[in-house]
Amino acid sequence: MPRKIKIFDTTLRDGEQCPGASLNTEEKIEIARQLARLNVDTMEAGFAIASPGDFEAVSAIAKLVKGPRICSLARAKKEDIQAAWDAVKHSDKPRIHTFLATSPIHMEAKLRMKPEKVLKTAAEMVAFARSLCDDVEFSPEDAGRSEPEFLYKVLKAVIEAGATTLNIPDTVGYTTPDEFGKLIASIIKHVPEIKKKNITVSVHCHNDLGLAVANSLAAVKNGADQVECTINGIGERAGNASLEEVVMAIKTRKDFFDCETDINTKEIYRTSRLVSNLTGMLVQPNKAIVGANAFAHEAGIHQAGVLRARETYEIMHPADIGLTKSKLVLGKHSGRHAFADKLKEMGYELSEEHLEKAFKKFKDLADKKKEIEQRDLEAIVADEVYVVEERFVLEEVHIDSGTNVTPRAKVRLLDNGKAIEATKEGAGPVDAVYKAIDAIVKAPSSLVDYTIQAITGGTDAQGEVTVRIKKGDCIYVGHGASMDIIVASARAYLAALNRLLAA
Ligand code: KIV
Ligand code: ZN
Repeated sequence: MPRKIKIFDTTLRDGEQCPGASLNTEEKIEIARQLARLNVDTMEAGFAIASPGDFEAVSAIAKLVKGPRICSLARAKKEDIQAAWDAVKHSDKPRIHTFLATSPIHMEAKLRMKPEKVLKTAAEMVAFARSLCDDVEFSPEDAGRSEPEFLYKVLKAVIEAGATTLNIPDTVGYTTPDEFGKLIASIIKHVPEIKKKNITVSVHCHNDLGLAVANSLAAVKNGADQVECTINGIGERAGNASLEEVVMAIKTRKDFFDCETDINTKEIYRTSRLVSNLTGMLVQPNKAIVGANAFAHEAGIHQAGVLRARETYEIMHPADIGLTKSKLVLGKHSGRHAFADKLKEMGYELSEEHLEKAFKKFKDLADKKKEIEQRDLEAIVADEVYVVEERFVLEEVHIDSGTNVTPRAKVRLLDNGKAIEATKEGAGPVDAVYKAIDAIVKAPSSLVDYTIQAITGGTDAQGEVTVRIKKGDCIYVGHGASMDIIVASARAYLAALNRLLAA
């Protein structure tokens, strides 16, 4: 019988730690609900002690999201562990995840602790966590660069103190698959208490050398039974092992791994889009599994092969990750009912108010564009659903630009219903529009990045603009989609500014 591999998602903790991916509580809850649909075994909802906002988000998720275990990270300190417990205790399946570094460099340079002190603290803090919660995970941080003999000692001590999961992190993405696989096998061999007490062995790999998924899979092959990962592989520096790659590798190569997960793979694509939309971290087109080109067959010879027998070039079925046929039968004559049904089929259940607004946008688009594709509908939903209370609304944008013209933009916004106009020149049309918006909104910030993508193929495609702006340490994301890329740019910038103002 295939071995079950538990999937521990840390998108909302390690993923959210990556520069510029910060999410507000509502967005975290939205992602958490989607992770529950994806059927992850455990989700790390945050780092409760990090800030009041983090605490609020972890406890809200623990209260609202049913199905997976809800976990909070905590340093090996009483106040962290207590905060983690106070936040996760509302879940019917709570977990505390505490960690302490065990590598020579981390113990000396970061913790300034002798190994004996690390050993004692790890055991004491696990015992404290266990006095609060039946489910305790311990991570020896930077295990990949720790002395194996010391690692075994620490792992034995924390099992004795009550840890139920041992998570082995390659914190800096330093190891290679062969090494990391051997490390996991050696831990299982030298810590016999793991088998005796039925302790879960977990792995947590970072992607600094691009090996996070390969290392995680090597660990699975060598006996690990939980993999920690994030959607789209987001996370500290080069990110974490990507959930979709780990899961689809285990599913597609069941013959090799003889393992399976409980992930509902049909929710993968939608989860990836949601995380990308809310964090503003775009997915590269050639990204395995969820990239725009992952199932595209451009070369004629490939197309011919796929048409005759899909398996010639396709090792997975697009439907397995929830990619349905992109062309939709909806057209400009489709009614509200058909529209709502289609959204439901795609997994979106909108409130009456959001549905009304989304339907209006769909009608406007269908008037201009012959074929409305699934991605068009996703962009409409993203524009409608993931917006905060809008103080400023775009009424009109008009530009003069072209060869031998200094770009000039006139923008009219409604500020709580009152119209305000500004005209500005800029280095390019987008610069001019953003300067005019700045003159009205007066919320100083810096533009961190601006990206534009054609949502579908064809010259009549909608352009989707994503901007990230920064004020202090906070990043705010905005999206805008339109067939006119200047309008899309203005909407995206305004959406980000509205978020900044709402915060
Ligand atoms: O990378 C790491 O070591 C971590 C631990 C806290 C598990 O994220
Ligand atoms: Zn990590």
